[in-house]
Amino acid sequence: MIFKSPNDIPSSEITPESTYLNRRTFIRTAVMAGSVIASGAIYRGLTQPAPAQLAADQGPAATMLEGPEGESVTTFEDITNYNNFYEFSTDKRGVADKARGFVAEPWTVAVTGLCAKPTTFDLDGLARLATPEDRVYRMRCVERWSMVIPWLGVPLAAVLSAVEPLSSAKYVAFTTLYDPSRMPNQKTSILGWPYVEGLRLDEAMHPLTILSTGLYGRPLLPQNGAPLRLVVPWKYGFKGIKSIVKIELVAGEPPTTWNREAPDEYGFYANVNPKVDHPRWSQASERRIGEFGQRDTLPFNGYAEQVAGLYSGMDLRRSF
Ligand code: MTE
Repeated sequence: MIFKSPNDIPSSEITPESTYLNRRTFIRTAVMAGSVIASGAIYRGLTQPAPAQLAADQGPAATMLEGPEGESVTTFEDITNYNNFYEFSTDKRGVADKARGFVAEPWTVAVTGLCAKPTTFDLDGLARLATPEDRVYRMRCVERWSMVIPWLGVPLAAVLSAVEPLSSAKYVAFTTLYDPSRMPNQKTSILGWPYVEGLRLDEAMHPLTILSTGLYGRPLLPQNGAPLRLVVPWKYGFKGIKSIVKIELVAGEPPTTWNREAPDEYGFYANVNPKVDHPRWSQASERRIGEFGQRDTLPFNGYAEQVAGLYSGMDLRRSF
C-alpha cells in the first residue's frame, strides 16, 4: 500500500503456468455472475466437508481450473506467498512465514448491531447457513497487481439475512481480530489497529460478495486471512478484510483503515476504475501475477454488468 511502489514485483518472482489443478470443477465467474439471482442452481453446492473440516494438508488434485473469461487461475504458490497482511508483515513475501502457526480455531464472528437477531457464529454455524460455494474471482490490488483466485465461501447475504437487519441498517462494518500476541505487527503503529472495513448494505447483500473460508478447495491459510475474510471482487483488494471477528450493521458510513491512514489516496468505495488514477500512479493497467507484461484494468474489475447499477446516479469519482 503506501509503503511500497506498485512496481515492486521482480520478474524473477513470477512463474507463468498454464494449468492449475484442484479436486473440483470450478464455475466460470463471468457466466455465473449474471445469473445468480435467477438461478441458485448455477452455483455448485459442494457435497464435500465444510472447509473447517478439511485437513490442512489436503492438497490440490485432479480437476482443471478455469478462471473468468478463460483467464488462467493464479497458482496456489503465488496466492499463498505474495500477500498483504500488515498484522504480520509489510513484506509481501514475508507474510506467510510470519503468519505460520497462527491458530485460527476455535473462532467466532459476532454479527451484531442494527438487527433483530444478533448472533455469534462459529465456523460450523456459518457453514450451516449456506453451503460453501466455489467462486473464481479476479482480485485487483490498488498497487496495480492482480490475481485470479478460486475462493470457497458463503454469500455474505446469507449471513446478514440470518440476523434480520433492521430498516435503519444502511452499512456494514467489519473488524479484524486484535491480538498483538498472535499478530505481532499489531505491536507496532504501522497502521491504526484493528484493521476495519465497510460496505454499503446493498453492496454487502450483492450476490457476488462472499465471506471466504477457503481457496483451492482448502481452508484459508493464515496469510490469506484465516479463517474468514471478505471478498468483494469489483473493489480494490484492500476492501477484503481478513481474519474477521465482528460484522456490525450500522446506520452511517463506517471508518475504513486505508481511508483513515491516507484519505487522499483511498476512498470508502474503492471500486476498481481504470480511469481514475491513484494520486501517485495510473490505474489503467495491471500486472497479473504469473504473467509477463501488463493487461488493461477493467471497470469494476470486469464485473460492471453485475454491479454498475449499484452506483447509478452517483458521482463516479466519489465511487472510486
Ligand atoms: N486485511 C487485514 N486485516 N490486514 C491487511 O493488511 N490487506 C488488504 C486485504 N485485507 C489487509 C487485509 C490488502 S491491501 C490486500 S491487497 C488484500 O488483503 C490481499 O489479500 P491476499 O494477501 O489474500 O492476496
